Amino acid sequence: MGRLATCPSTMKILFGFMILTVLMLICMEPNQVEAQVEPPYPPDYEVRALREIATELGKKDWNYNENPCNNKSSWFTPPPPPNVPEAINNSTVTCNCSFPNGECHIDGIYLLGQDLDGVLPRSLVKLSYIKVLVLYLNYLNGKIPREWAALKLETLNVAMNRLSGPIPSYLGNITSLKYLSLENNLFSGTIPPEFGKLVNLENLTLSANYLVGKFPSFLANLSNIKELRISSNNFSGKMPDIFQSWKQLEKLEIQGSGFEGPIPSSLALLHDLVEL
Ligand SMILES: *[C@@H]1O[C@H](CO)[C@@H](O)[C@H](O)[C@H]1NC(C)=O
Ligand SMILES: *[C@@H]1O[C@H](CO)[C@@H](O)[C@H](O)[C@H]1NC(C)=O
Ligand SMILES: *[C@@H]1O[C@H](CO)[C@@H](O)[C@H](O)[C@H]1NC(C)=O
Ligand SMILES: *[C@@H]1O[C@H](CO)[C@@H](O)[C@H](O)[C@H]1NC(C)=O
Ligand SMILES: *[C@@H]1O[C@H](CO)[C@@H](O)[C@H](O)[C@H]1NC(C)=O
Ligand SMILES: *[C@@H]1O[C@H](CO)[C@@H](O)[C@H](O)[C@H]1NC(C)=O
Ligand SMILES: *[C@@H]1O[C@H](CO)[C@@H](O)[C@H](O)[C@H]1NC(C)=O
Ligand SMILES: *[C@@H]1O[C@H](CO)[C@@H](O)[C@H](O)[C@H]1NC(C)=O
Repeated sequence: MGRLATCPSTMKILFGFMILTVLMLICMEPNQVEAQVEPPYPPDYEVRALREIATELGKKDWNYNENPCNNKSSWFTPPPPPNVPEAINNSTVTCNCSFPNGECHIDGIYLLGQDLDGVLPRSLVKLSYIKVLVLYLNYLNGKIPREWAALKLETLNVAMNRLSGPIPSYLGNITSLKYLSLENNLFSGTIPPEFGKLVNLENLTLSANYLVGKFPSFLANLSNIKELRISSNNFSGKMPDIFQSWKQLEKLEIQGSGFEGPIPSSLALLHDLVEL
């Protein structure tokens, strides 16, 4: 320390400090003005819902004294630096603050790698504007709540948990879903026929469960599907030749799914990106 330190005169220090201050004022002014515009809190009923959701999930570190919509503190994991991939561990609540009346509403909950050991929260239905729920990589157990049938979710990712039982038919009621992953859980039984109603699905992952039965022909209904992953299950029988219906399909993963060959010729002809 001593070796590096020089002894500039007081004038030099003062002058340097003044220049620095002027520069900081010039650079920071617009940001500071922006930062002073705090978004409103979401409505009380949404904050109450968050408390109930936290209890069900086993989430203990949300700070209710802070605004869940301010991108700060316990409500937000900031994006990674440029060129760094998204982190596995993430605890973020997002809000849409663009409602015409100036209100903010919670529209996303991302809790990845948070060691949550509770259950999937029934109280989620109290968040009327929720579109995204990601609970990837926790120890959540139990079933998908019946109440969720009323949600308007676009993304539901509960992969890498300990969820069990049959996949409920009422999941087919969430017709707004574009992305659904139930990967790496303990789901058993067959794929419910109601999945044929999920016509907006682009990305479906059911890999690494204990699903059985024949390849469901009602999945031909999913005409917007781009990526389908059903590897590592206990399906049986042959794959039907339904791939003509999936004109958007870009990726298919069926290794270890249990289905018997041969692979339908339409599949081989239509798509380059097949992984078997
Ligand atoms: C929070 O972050 C999101 C996405 O990065 C952004 O759209 C939004 O404007 C931010 N909200 C506040 C209050 O800074
Ligand atoms: C955490 O998740 C939010 C929402 O998806 C995302 O905007 C943010 O970049 C993530 N942070 C990290 C470090 O991956
Ligand atoms: C993610 O969280 C888990 C569980 O709390 C922890 O063991 C792990 O070290 C964390 N990983 C990173 C990259 O922070
Ligand atoms: C936010 O809500 C407004 C009003 O409902 C809607 O028009 C807009 O698309 C929403 N924004 C996002 C990013 O979902
Ligand atoms: C799912 O939708 C069907 C048909 O609209 C309806 O009869 C059923 O009650 C819904 N299921 C649940 C659990 O809400
Ligand atoms: C297929 O989708 C249509 C809507 O596009 C729906 O009316 C029909 O019930 C679905 N079929 C099955 C088998 O789910
Ligand atoms: C589908 O999900 C995978 C894995 O999460 C992702 O890499 C891919 O970009 C998604 N594709 C679409 C079309 O959303
Ligand atoms: C289920 O499939 C896995 C591989 O995906 C296999 O190891 C296991 O033996 C199968 N179990 C039954 C009961 O068929």
